[in-house]
Amino acid sequence: MPLISIPAANLSFDCPDDDTIMRAAVRNGLGFPYECNVGSCGNCKFELLEGEIEHLRQNPPGWSERDLQRNRYLGCQAKPLSDCKIKLNLRDHYKSHILPRKVSGKLMAVHDLTHDIREFQFALDVPVAFVPGQYALLSVPGIEGARAYSMGNITDDGNQWHFQIKRVPNGLATSALFDRLKLGDEIGLDGPYGMAYLREEAPRDLLLIAGGSGLSPMISLTRGAAASTKLNGRQLHFFYGGRTASDMCADRVLGSLPGYGTNIHYYPAISMPETDGPQWSGRTGFIHDYVREAMGDKIRDMEIYFAGPPAMAEAVTRMIVEYKVPMAQVHFDQFY
Ligand SMILES: Cc1cc2nc3c(=O)[nH]c(=O)nc-3n(C[C@H](O)[C@H](O)[C@H](O)COP(=O)(O)OP(=O)(O)OC[C@H]3O[C@@H](n4cnc5c(N)ncnc54)[C@H](O)[C@@H]3O)c2cc1C
Ligand code: FES
Repeated sequence: MPLISIPAANLSFDCPDDDTIMRAAVRNGLGFPYECNVGSCGNCKFELLEGEIEHLRQNPPGWSERDLQRNRYLGCQAKPLSDCKIKLNLRDHYKSHILPRKVSGKLMAVHDLTHDIREFQFALDVPVAFVPGQYALLSVPGIEGARAYSMGNITDDGNQWHFQIKRVPNGLATSALFDRLKLGDEIGLDGPYGMAYLREEAPRDLLLIAGGSGLSPMISLTRGAAASTKLNGRQLHFFYGGRTASDMCADRVLGSLPGYGTNIHYYPAISMPETDGPQWSGRTGFIHDYVREAMGDKIRDMEIYFAGPPAMAEAVTRMIVEYKVPMAQVHFDQFY
């Protein structure tokens, strides 16, 4: 098993043959920076000082020819072929409270939430807890490369992980999950990962913003907040944007939570009301515009969580910068 050394930090760890350098580091409790875990964001880059590695994913979007020339590689995709010495800055922020593990999940139930969002419920062979808002890597049978999906449930014992997954037209993993995975089938799960988890200690009201596929982590965060005694009395504002009325479902999931309508407030909006489909008498337009209008200057004093497609994430980030929200109050994992 290759040994990975970080001379500047005076430490080393083993990287099993079926693992990558960043994931093995996080499993060993180290604060190795990362975000997407699938080779897209580039946040996990390190410099290879000695040794040989290969990337699991060919031509990952977060890596360039220039990186190759500078001997820089993606930790989430780097599989060591020998002992390696590497250089990077470890940061405590990225240390996991719960160390990620590779387990097997058996598909126990599925529920359609909308025409293209389905909840997949897996029972784990070995229980692994997670903090609301975190995600896992799913190894979908027959599909190259694991995909990241956020858990939508909360758990005391870690026996079950549920995922709310949006079907991507012609998407490889989502087509396999929706069309071929059957009840009783088992798949590989690896987690929990991610920094956009619930901060129960933060003394502020919560602002949650989700679009499309970003529903799952925001539902988990809301469930976690509703169950937390530390958050008693805190107000939670949940904004959910879709394209048409047929995309909307969060109220059905949130409506049964204690505090819905008193501490938990739901703000849906659709951006394409003219599209054929069910009638919609609610708010129209982009979700970040709705947040701005409904919350105004209060945004600066809130603990903010968001997830969704890149265009939404960019618009929300611009709004956060405009309102000068301290970045320590902002939590997100970019979806790719
Ligand atoms: C942190 C995070 C959390 C996410 N949470 C959710 C969620 O809760 N619900 C949800 O619906 N979606 C979520 N996504 C998006 C999800 O991971 C997939 O990108 C999406 O479902 C499309 O997958 P696909 O294979 O069907 O589509 P495709 O179009 O076939 O694949 C596109 C995606 O797969 C990835 N990919 C392609 N090839 C490889 C490879 N060889 N190795 C690794 N990755 C590869 C790429 O990142 C790309 O974005 C999340 C993404 C991230 C990064
Ligand atoms: S590219 Fe490795 S964490 Fe995003």
